[in-house]
Amino acid sequence: MLDIDHVNAYYSDSHVLHDVSLHVEKGQVTTLLGRNGAGKTTTLLTIMGYLAPRDGRVSYEGQDISGMAPHRISHLGIGFVPQERGVFPSLTVEENLTVAARPGRTHRWSLATIYELFPRLQERRNNLGFQLSGGEQQMVSIARALMLNPSLILLDEPSEGLAPLIVQEIVNIVALLKAEGLGILLIEQNLGVALELSDTHYILDKGAVCFTGTSDALRNNEKILGAHLSV
Ligand SMILES: Nc1ncnc2c1ncn2[C@@H]1O[C@H](COP(=O)(O)OP(=O)(O)OP(=O)(O)O)[C@@H](O)[C@H]1O
Ligand SMILES: [Mg+2]
Repeated sequence: MLDIDHVNAYYSDSHVLHDVSLHVEKGQVTTLLGRNGAGKTTTLLTIMGYLAPRDGRVSYEGQDISGMAPHRISHLGIGFVPQERGVFPSLTVEENLTVAARPGRTHRWSLATIYELFPRLQERRNNLGFQLSGGEQQMVSIARALMLNPSLILLDEPSEGLAPLIVQEIVNIVALLKAEGLGILLIEQNLGVALELSDTHYILDKGAVCFTGTSDALRNNEKILGAHLSV
């Protein structure tokens, strides 16, 4: 459903993504791995239109979306959960969820179904963003992306800085979204999480793809694991 084809991206003169190609399938988790500064977040920002590729092409369900405005890309059905989570500190949980939601047609996700998936957010519905734990903020960020009823969701290190029990909750949610047929592109530094969830892995090194393969191929590649994943 998502194809990145020979993309080069720059921050002004600084060439950050080098000829990156990757592919995300519906109903699968694809992970993007690599050391700090490898270009993982930049890849997602390029997909979402925050950074226009200088050359190459991003297409979503056959449509060229390279350089399209972020709000248009989001309305086409791509949800984005940013690394910094982006929870509004002075809004309640419920306001955070409804601020961007599109009313109207009956969709899979509404406040009611979101609260079924995240009972903890229902308990906290009237708490302000700044009063939430890191795990709760991550849940708000994922829930808010779902409220737009995406077909593809991009998750930037959802487990970063969270306790193991909360990480497992997030893993369960991602697995459920996959089972529902969403396409998922997941940035994940936790190799255990990546291996558990993912079908296909891409590793970035200095802005270029240096490995593509299945979990089995990755598990058995000690050289790659040692060089890029601190294991
Ligand atoms: N706004 C920016 N302006 C200039 N350079 C940037 C900017 N944002 C990121 N970079 C640089 O681009 C490169 C890739 O950064 P990016 O944030 O994509 O890495 P990452 O793989 O997501 O790292 P991390 O694991 O730390 O989140 C880094 O060298 C970074 O310093
Ligand atoms: Mg990043």
